[in-house]
Amino acid sequence: MSNLPAWQFDEMKQVGKDYAEASEVEAFDAFHGKLRDVEKENEAIIKTLSIQKHHSVIDFGAGTGAFAIQSAACSRKVYAVDVSRAMLNFARNKSKTKGISNIVFCHGGFLTYSHTDDPVDFIVTSLALHHLPDFWKGVALRRLNSMLKPEGRLFLYDVVYSEENYEANITAWISSMESIGGRELVEDVEMHIREEYSTFTWIMESLLEKAGFRIDTVNYDKGVLAQYVCIKKGGEA
Ligand SMILES: C[S@@+](CC[C@H](N)C(=O)[O-])C[C@H]1O[C@@H](n2cnc3c(N)ncnc32)[C@H](O)[C@@H]1O
Repeated sequence: MSNLPAWQFDEMKQVGKDYAEASEVEAFDAFHGKLRDVEKENEAIIKTLSIQKHHSVIDFGAGTGAFAIQSAACSRKVYAVDVSRAMLNFARNKSKTKGISNIVFCHGGFLTYSHTDDPVDFIVTSLALHHLPDFWKGVALRRLNSMLKPEGRLFLYDVVYSEENYEANITAWISSMESIGGRELVEDVEMHIREEYSTFTWIMESLLEKAGFRIDTVNYDKGVLAQYVCIKKGGEA
Protein backbone atom coordinates (compact mmCIF):
# COMPACT_ATOMS: atom_id res chain seq x y z
CA MET A 1 0.00 0.00 0.00
CA SER A 2 3.08 2.20 -0.28
CA ASN A 3 1.83 4.78 -2.84
CA LEU A 4 -1.57 5.18 -1.22
CA PRO A 5 -2.33 8.17 1.00
CA ALA A 6 -2.18 7.75 4.77
CA TRP A 7 -5.97 8.24 4.92
CA GLN A 8 -6.70 5.30 2.58
CA PHE A 9 -8.91 2.60 4.13
CA ASP A 10 -6.88 -0.59 4.62
CA GLU A 11 -8.99 -3.18 2.82
CA MET A 12 -6.38 -5.89 3.43
CA LYS A 13 -7.27 -5.88 7.12
CA GLN A 14 -10.09 -8.41 7.46
CA VAL A 15 -13.24 -7.18 9.17
CA GLY A 16 -15.72 -9.57 10.76
CA LYS A 17 -15.00 -13.09 9.55
CA ASP A 18 -11.27 -13.62 8.94
CA TYR A 19 -10.50 -15.33 5.62
CA ALA A 20 -6.72 -15.08 5.94
CA GLU A 21 -6.19 -18.67 7.10
CA ALA A 22 -6.35 -21.72 4.78
CA SER A 23 -8.38 -23.63 7.40
CA GLU A 24 -11.02 -20.83 7.54
CA VAL A 25 -11.23 -20.87 3.75
CA GLU A 26 -11.77 -24.64 3.61
CA ALA A 27 -14.42 -24.36 6.32
CA PHE A 28 -16.11 -21.49 4.41
CA ASP A 29 -16.21 -23.52 1.18
CA ALA A 30 -17.64 -26.61 2.90
CA PHE A 31 -20.16 -24.63 4.96
CA HIS A 32 -21.45 -22.51 2.08
CA GLY A 33 -21.58 -25.61 -0.13
CA LYS A 34 -24.11 -27.02 2.34
CA LEU A 35 -26.06 -23.80 2.96
CA ARG A 36 -26.44 -22.52 -0.57
CA ASP A 37 -27.08 -24.04 -3.96
CA VAL A 38 -24.03 -22.20 -5.26
CA GLU A 39 -24.15 -23.80 -8.71
CA LYS A 40 -27.77 -22.76 -9.19
CA GLU A 41 -27.04 -19.21 -7.90
CA ASN A 42 -24.17 -18.86 -10.37
CA GLU A 43 -26.20 -20.29 -13.24
CA ALA A 44 -28.87 -17.67 -12.53
CA ILE A 45 -26.28 -14.84 -12.60
CA ILE A 46 -24.83 -16.14 -15.90
CA LYS A 47 -28.33 -16.30 -17.37
CA THR A 48 -29.38 -12.89 -16.03
CA LEU A 49 -26.34 -11.21 -17.56
CA SER A 50 -26.32 -13.46 -20.68
CA ILE A 51 -22.61 -14.14 -20.31
CA GLN A 52 -21.21 -15.60 -23.53
CA LYS A 53 -17.97 -16.91 -24.98
CA HIS A 54 -16.69 -13.51 -26.18
CA HIS A 55 -17.31 -11.74 -22.84
CA SER A 56 -14.90 -10.72 -20.09
CA VAL A 57 -15.84 -10.61 -16.41
CA ILE A 58 -14.33 -9.37 -13.14
CA ASP A 59 -15.44 -11.13 -9.96
CA PHE A 60 -14.68 -8.93 -6.93
CA GLY A 61 -14.41 -10.82 -3.65
CA ALA A 62 -14.18 -14.05 -5.62
CA GLY A 63 -13.76 -16.16 -2.47
CA THR A 64 -13.25 -19.85 -3.18
CA GLY A 65 -13.81 -19.25 -6.90
CA ALA A 66 -17.18 -20.90 -7.50
CA PHE A 67 -18.57 -18.10 -9.68
CA ALA A 68 -15.25 -17.37 -11.40
CA ILE A 69 -14.87 -21.04 -12.38
CA GLN A 70 -18.45 -21.50 -13.54
CA SER A 71 -18.46 -18.26 -15.56
CA ALA A 72 -15.00 -18.97 -17.04
CA ALA A 73 -16.44 -22.11 -18.63
CA CYS A 74 -18.79 -19.97 -20.72
CA SER A 75 -16.80 -16.74 -21.25
CA ARG A 76 -13.48 -15.56 -22.73
CA LYS A 77 -11.70 -14.36 -19.62
CA VAL A 78 -12.43 -13.93 -15.92
CA TYR A 79 -10.45 -11.85 -13.43
CA ALA A 80 -10.91 -13.24 -9.92
CA VAL A 81 -10.01 -10.52 -7.42
CA ASP A 82 -9.76 -11.02 -3.67
CA VAL A 83 -7.87 -9.49 -0.73
CA SER A 84 -7.33 -12.94 0.80
CA ARG A 85 -4.37 -14.88 -0.59
CA ALA A 86 -5.73 -18.01 1.10
CA MET A 87 -9.02 -17.63 -0.84
CA LEU A 88 -7.14 -17.08 -4.10
CA ASN A 89 -4.90 -20.13 -3.53
CA PHE A 90 -7.93 -22.30 -2.84
CA ALA A 91 -9.74 -20.97 -5.94
CA ARG A 92 -6.64 -21.40 -8.15
CA ASN A 93 -6.24 -25.04 -7.07
CA LYS A 94 -9.93 -25.71 -7.65
CA SER A 95 -9.76 -24.22 -11.15
CA LYS A 96 -6.72 -26.39 -11.99
CA THR A 97 -8.58 -29.51 -10.85
CA LYS A 98 -11.45 -28.55 -13.13
CA GLY A 99 -9.16 -27.86 -16.09
CA ILE A 100 -10.11 -24.16 -16.32
CA SER A 101 -7.29 -21.96 -17.62
CA ASN A 102 -8.91 -18.61 -18.55
CA ILE A 103 -9.03 -17.09 -15.05
CA VAL A 104 -6.52 -14.45 -13.97
CA PHE A 105 -6.21 -14.52 -10.17
CA CYS A 106 -5.48 -11.09 -8.74
CA HIS A 107 -4.52 -10.21 -5.19
CA GLY A 108 -6.26 -6.90 -4.52
CA GLY A 109 -9.62 -5.49 -3.69
CA PHE A 110 -12.31 -2.96 -4.56
CA LEU A 111 -9.99 -0.10 -3.61
CA THR A 112 -6.60 -1.38 -4.74
CA TYR A 113 -7.08 -3.69 -7.76
CA SER A 114 -5.84 -1.93 -10.84
CA HIS A 115 -7.37 -3.14 -14.10
CA THR A 116 -4.79 -2.56 -16.83
CA ASP A 117 -6.44 -4.69 -19.55
CA ASP A 118 -9.35 -3.54 -21.73
CA PRO A 119 -12.57 -2.62 -19.91
CA VAL A 120 -14.79 -5.64 -19.22
CA ASP A 121 -18.38 -6.52 -20.15
CA PHE A 122 -19.48 -7.48 -16.63
CA ILE A 123 -18.52 -7.08 -13.01
CA VAL A 124 -20.00 -9.47 -10.48
CA THR A 125 -19.67 -9.15 -6.73
CA SER A 126 -21.51 -11.31 -4.20
CA LEU A 127 -21.47 -10.91 -0.43
CA ALA A 128 -18.27 -8.83 -0.46
CA LEU A 129 -18.95 -5.07 -0.76
CA HIS A 130 -20.21 -4.94 2.84
CA HIS A 131 -16.57 -5.23 3.94
CA LEU A 132 -16.22 -1.51 3.18
CA PRO A 133 -17.76 1.40 5.14
CA ASP A 134 -20.20 3.51 3.10
CA PHE A 135 -17.82 6.26 1.97
CA TRP A 136 -15.44 3.56 0.69
CA LYS A 137 -18.31 1.67 -0.98
CA GLY A 138 -18.88 4.87 -2.96
CA VAL A 139 -15.20 5.08 -3.88
CA ALA A 140 -15.21 1.38 -4.83
CA LEU A 141 -18.32 1.68 -7.04
CA ARG A 142 -16.76 4.58 -8.97
CA ARG A 143 -13.64 2.47 -9.54
CA LEU A 144 -15.78 -0.48 -10.72
CA ASN A 145 -17.69 1.80 -13.09
CA SER A 146 -14.41 2.89 -14.70
CA MET A 147 -13.44 -0.75 -15.38
CA LEU A 148 -16.59 -1.47 -17.42
CA LYS A 149 -17.18 -0.99 -21.14
CA PRO A 150 -19.89 1.54 -22.09
CA GLU A 151 -23.21 -0.12 -21.15
CA GLY A 152 -21.30 -2.75 -19.22
CA ARG A 153 -23.25 -4.27 -16.35
CA LEU A 154 -22.66 -4.70 -12.66
CA PHE A 155 -24.30 -7.55 -10.73
CA LEU A 156 -24.24 -6.79 -7.01
CA TYR A 157 -25.59 -9.15 -4.37
CA ASP A 158 -25.16 -8.43 -0.68
CA VAL A 159 -26.70 -7.99 2.72
CA VAL A 160 -28.49 -4.62 2.40
CA TYR A 161 -31.24 -3.59 4.83
CA SER A 162 -34.61 -2.23 3.71
CA GLU A 163 -35.36 0.76 5.93
CA GLU A 164 -38.86 -0.27 6.95
CA ASN A 165 -39.06 -2.71 9.88
CA TYR A 166 -35.32 -3.31 9.84
CA GLU A 167 -35.24 -4.53 13.45
CA ALA A 168 -38.07 -7.01 12.91
CA ASN A 169 -36.50 -8.20 9.63
CA ILE A 170 -33.10 -8.75 11.22
CA THR A 171 -34.65 -10.59 14.18
CA ALA A 172 -36.68 -12.85 11.87
CA TRP A 173 -33.61 -13.47 9.68
CA ILE A 174 -31.50 -14.53 12.65
CA SER A 175 -34.29 -16.80 13.95
CA SER A 176 -34.51 -18.54 10.57
CA MET A 177 -30.76 -19.25 10.54
CA GLU A 178 -30.73 -21.80 13.36
CA SER A 179 -32.61 -24.47 11.40
CA ILE A 180 -30.54 -23.83 8.27
CA GLY A 181 -27.02 -23.74 9.70
CA GLY A 182 -27.26 -24.18 13.48
CA ARG A 183 -25.58 -21.96 16.12
CA GLU A 184 -22.54 -21.36 13.87
CA LEU A 185 -24.64 -19.59 11.26
CA VAL A 186 -26.59 -17.62 13.86
CA GLU A 187 -23.31 -16.35 15.32
CA ASP A 188 -21.92 -15.57 11.85
CA VAL A 189 -24.99 -13.47 11.03
CA GLU A 190 -24.92 -11.71 14.39
CA MET A 191 -21.26 -10.88 13.87
CA HIS A 192 -22.00 -9.68 10.35
CA ILE A 193 -24.61 -7.21 11.59
CA ARG A 194 -22.48 -6.07 14.55
CA GLU A 195 -19.05 -5.73 12.91
CA GLU A 196 -19.35 -5.58 9.12
CA TYR A 197 -20.64 -2.62 7.09
CA SER A 198 -23.92 -3.65 5.50
CA THR A 199 -26.05 -0.58 4.92
CA PHE A 200 -29.58 0.57 4.05
CA THR A 201 -31.02 0.11 0.55
CA TRP A 202 -31.48 3.89 0.09
CA ILE A 203 -27.80 4.46 0.79
CA MET A 204 -26.67 1.64 -1.51
CA GLU A 205 -28.97 2.82 -4.30
CA SER A 206 -27.82 6.39 -3.99
CA LEU A 207 -24.17 5.28 -4.04
CA LEU A 208 -24.81 3.23 -7.20
CA GLU A 209 -26.48 6.16 -8.99
CA LYS A 210 -23.80 8.65 -7.93
CA ALA A 211 -21.08 6.25 -9.09
CA GLY A 212 -22.50 6.34 -12.63
CA PHE A 213 -24.86 3.36 -12.69
CA ARG A 214 -28.52 3.09 -13.59
CA ILE A 215 -30.26 0.39 -11.55
CA ASP A 216 -31.95 -1.86 -14.09
CA THR A 217 -33.46 -4.45 -11.75
CA VAL A 218 -33.51 -4.96 -8.01
CA ASN A 219 -34.74 -7.90 -5.95
CA TYR A 220 -35.09 -7.66 -2.20
CA ASP A 221 -35.19 -10.75 -0.02
CA LYS A 222 -36.59 -10.73 3.54
CA GLY A 223 -35.71 -7.05 3.91
CA VAL A 224 -32.06 -8.02 4.53
CA LEU A 225 -30.64 -9.04 1.14
CA ALA A 226 -30.61 -7.22 -2.17
CA GLN A 227 -29.60 -8.15 -5.68
CA TYR A 228 -28.97 -5.38 -8.21
CA VAL A 229 -28.31 -5.45 -11.93
CA CYS A 230 -26.93 -2.05 -12.93
CA ILE A 231 -25.93 -0.54 -16.25
CA LYS A 232 -23.03 1.84 -16.69
CA LYS A 233 -24.64 5.17 -17.57
CA GLY A 234 -23.54 7.16 -20.53
CA GLY A 235 -23.56 4.65 -23.36
CA GLU A 236 -27.30 3.97 -23.37
CA ALA A 237 -29.79 5.10 -26.00
C1 LIG B 1 -18.44 -13.90 2.19
S1 LIG B 1 -17.10 -14.09 1.08
C2 LIG B 1 -18.01 -14.25 -0.47
C3 LIG B 1 -17.24 -15.03 -1.51
C4 LIG B 1 -17.99 -15.27 -2.82
N1 LIG B 1 -18.22 -14.04 -3.57
C5 LIG B 1 -19.28 -16.00 -2.58
O1 LIG B 1 -20.36 -15.46 -2.92
O2 LIG B 1 -19.23 -17.12 -2.06
C6 LIG B 1 -16.42 -12.46 0.98
C7 LIG B 1 -15.13 -12.39 0.18
O3 LIG B 1 -14.79 -11.01 -0.03
C8 LIG B 1 -13.40 -10.85 0.18
N2 LIG B 1 -13.15 -9.44 0.50
C9 LIG B 1 -13.19 -8.81 1.69
N3 LIG B 1 -12.88 -7.51 1.56
C10 LIG B 1 -12.65 -7.30 0.23
C11 LIG B 1 -12.28 -6.17 -0.54
N4 LIG B 1 -12.09 -4.99 0.01
N5 LIG B 1 -12.11 -6.32 -1.88
C12 LIG B 1 -12.31 -7.54 -2.47
N6 LIG B 1 -12.65 -8.65 -1.78
C13 LIG B 1 -12.82 -8.53 -0.45
C14 LIG B 1 -13.07 -11.84 1.29
O4 LIG B 1 -11.69 -12.14 1.34
C15 LIG B 1 -13.94 -13.03 0.87
O5 LIG B 1 -13.26 -13.87 -0.03
